[in-house]
Amino acid sequence: MKGLFITATDTGVGKTIIGAALASIIRRSGVDVGVMKPFASADKVFSRKHKSEDVALLAKAAQVTDPDEQINPFFYQVPTAPFVASKLNFKNKVNISYALKIYHTLCAKHDFMIVEGIGGVMVPLTKKKYIANFAKSLGLSTIIVSSSKLGTINHTLLTIKVCKCFGLNPIGIIINGIEEKNDSLVKDKVIEAIEELSDVKILGVIPFLKTLNLSKMRLTIERNLDINEILLM
Ligand SMILES: Nc1ncnc2c1ncn2[C@@H]1O[C@H](COP(=O)(O)OP(=O)(O)O)[C@@H](O)[C@H]1O
Ligand SMILES: [Mg+2]
Repeated sequence: MKGLFITATDTGVGKTIIGAALASIIRRSGVDVGVMKPFASADKVFSRKHKSEDVALLAKAAQVTDPDEQINPFFYQVPTAPFVASKLNFKNKVNISYALKIYHTLCAKHDFMIVEGIGGVMVPLTKKKYIANFAKSLGLSTIIVSSSKLGTINHTLLTIKVCKCFGLNPIGIIINGIEEKNDSLVKDKVIEAIEELSDVKILGVIPFLKTLNLSKMRLTIERNLDINEILLM
């Protein structure tokens, strides 16, 4: 299956908005793109249609009508890792084979898949499996969204090392949320250092957007990333 698995150096780094913008661009180019957020957790249910806010945005961007139970088979109304949620008496315990079965159902309906992970690569799903194990089973191309905050070299290199341990070979990194006012020389050198030390390509750098919505992120990505290059990888 052609598609992307979107992970990040942490939660709140930009997986959903970037994944949604990529889905929107790909859909607008005429490709039938499906989306999935197999495991989600939040302190509240977002809407009647979609329990997870991430799922609502991804589904809107990809213009899909797949049922919420397929886009997001596992939702926990507590913002924590699925493994932790499973200790809290949630009925819908993580079942990795079931999540994979649903993924294949979506693959049969679409020509390209964008799957958002949960948090970073070492988020535990069960005692034995991490989201990185699940990602490996999907067979998609992995993209890492990295923050632009101090500490990102460490977090990005850790993420890449772990990806490799799990047999995931990230095709590239998107650095998100760069403040334009930052010292651009340092910023450029940090970006250069990440690429040099990791041997993983920086696909693009996304600025911090004061007012953010899907179409704004779509335009920003179109301006800052070579989408065709990503699709051919
Ligand atoms: N480039 C950006 N500029 C401004 N806000 C951003 C940017 N990228 C992400 N955000 C905001 O940061 C928050 C976290 O992004 P999100 O995509 O939900 O991250 P994740 O899916 O990794 O948890 C959201 O409120 C999102 O709108
Ligand atoms: Mg998200």
